[in-house]
Amino acid sequence: MGNVRTVGVIGAGVMGRGVTTALRQAGFRVVLVDRDEEILERTRARLRDDVRLYAMLAPGSAITADELFAETVFTTNLEDLADVDLVVENATELWTVKRPIYERLGGVCRPGVIIAVNTSAISITRLGALTGRPENVIGMHFMNPVPLKPTVEVIRAHHTSESTVDAAREFLTALGKKSIVVNDSPGFVTNRVMMLTVNEAAFLVHEGVASAADTDRLFVECFGHTMGPLETADLIGLDTVLLSIEVLYDEFKDSKYRPCPLLTKLVDAGLHGRKSGQGFFNYESAKRG
Ligand code: NAI
Repeated sequence: MGNVRTVGVIGAGVMGRGVTTALRQAGFRVVLVDRDEEILERTRARLRDDVRLYAMLAPGSAITADELFAETVFTTNLEDLADVDLVVENATELWTVKRPIYERLGGVCRPGVIIAVNTSAISITRLGALTGRPENVIGMHFMNPVPLKPTVEVIRAHHTSESTVDAAREFLTALGKKSIVVNDSPGFVTNRVMMLTVNEAAFLVHEGVASAADTDRLFVECFGHTMGPLETADLIGLDTVLLSIEVLYDEFKDSKYRPCPLLTKLVDAGLHGRKSGQGFFNYESAKRG
């Protein structure tokens, strides 16, 4: 596990829960931070469901909820990260949410502690600059669901030091993940391609070219993908997909990233995909808390 024993996880949503579960499976202690107690209470219930699901899908690395909670501290106080050995930040994909966190993190964490940004498209370089120690800031773009995905896209920002890159990769190896290092650019490699694909698939449905089901079936049955782009969007969360496309649009000022109106409408309607019970597809029977 190297020098990292305790990891601070910021944001207890889809990704924060996945990262927490993977960390506990690998034996790390966790300090999990979110905005308020009600969210943390809901997170505890969802983590119980998550570990049951992962026990079925990947029995080899399964842990019980009691094992997960035994060494996980739930808190609303960012200052509780003062003693952690590494931070993975997974707060909402909005600059206005992430900025104040990074403005404080540089002062909260011990010198030299790596601050890993888990974002879909926001500039790692810009977030790093807010900390006053950008050499310790790196992108760790985990894939969802984190406990089941073997590889992490690691993003080297403008000021990220090579020792930070090496230590981050060593940490990921201890977590049981492989890593692929790329340079900082909006959306990195994965989401620059993925978000455009999802958005274009949404346009096809919006224009009546094909149904959501048939659009996805073409990817699954013709290309052999395990999941079509619209089901993938539902898994990511349509709110997060929309925010990510908006970041790409703002960063590149290129109309090819304009969000599909259908995507915006679904998000406005509160249909955020799997996490809300409905998106392009219906998950009502699997809806939780
Ligand atoms: P989410 O909406 O499920 O969760 C975000 C969490 O951040 C919420 O629990 C929210 O209460 C919390 N939060 C907001 N402000 C906060 C603050 N000041 N301090 C602490 N917590 C705060 O979003 P999700 O999907 O977990 O995404 C989180 C990040 O991970 C985003 O930047 C997203 O782009 C990125 N990401 C998402 C992936 C996905 O498949 N959903 C995949 C890889 C990265």
